Amino acid sequence: MTKTPSPIAVLISGSGSNLQALLDAAETGDLGCDIAVVISDRSGVGGLDRAARADVPTEVVAWSAFATRAAFTDAVCDAAQRWGAGGMVLAGFMRILAPSAMERFPNAIINLHPALLPSFPGARAVEQALEHGVSLTGVTVHFVDEQVDHGPIIAQEAVAVLPDDDAETLHARIQNVEHTLLPTCVAAFARGDLVVEGRHVRWRQTPIAARSQ
Ligand code: GRF
Repeated sequence: MTKTPSPIAVLISGSGSNLQALLDAAETGDLGCDIAVVISDRSGVGGLDRAARADVPTEVVAWSAFATRAAFTDAVCDAAQRWGAGGMVLAGFMRILAPSAMERFPNAIINLHPALLPSFPGARAVEQALEHGVSLTGVTVHFVDEQVDHGPIIAQEAVAVLPDDDAETLHARIQNVEHTLLPTCVAAFARGDLVVEGRHVRWRQTPIAARSQ
């Protein structure tokens, strides 16, 4: 008997264009799992409206309401588990979770980063790629571990930096790639297609083209 994939929680902090890509893929069945809840670390962000329009429950776990990262993390994980989520997807979520999240969701937290890790970790990845003068940057989707923007890489795709790029134009092209790569990786996770072996993630089925570039 085929096991029904667990639903996921999607964590956001902002406009939620990547959340929209996940909602659209869930709607067509391409995501292979349901989105049980959307959790934001602040109220009033566009991503919460996107979730509401798709009839997906939302919760605000306000970063400012907690004295410690550990307490904030517990509240986020509690909310996700209350809605039955078996994994969490950080889609433009700008907070760092405490290690207890990885204990509660082992190899089941996926993050999206707008650069080719290990280059340019942190919150200014697009700006730093421009400042550094690289000709290629891109997108990384990876499992979350105890270090920031560091865990086992699920897939990467390159984006060329053009001579006239500023942070806005480059980020727009990066986001176009994100909107396909993230749902593809989440669908693979939902299928049980991703096997974590140390720092390496093995795809049970043929790896997507982006991974072998
Ligand atoms: C994405 O580009 C992501 O890589 C970065 O923040 C952005 C979030 O965009 N960490 P959105 O909220 O999904 O539109």
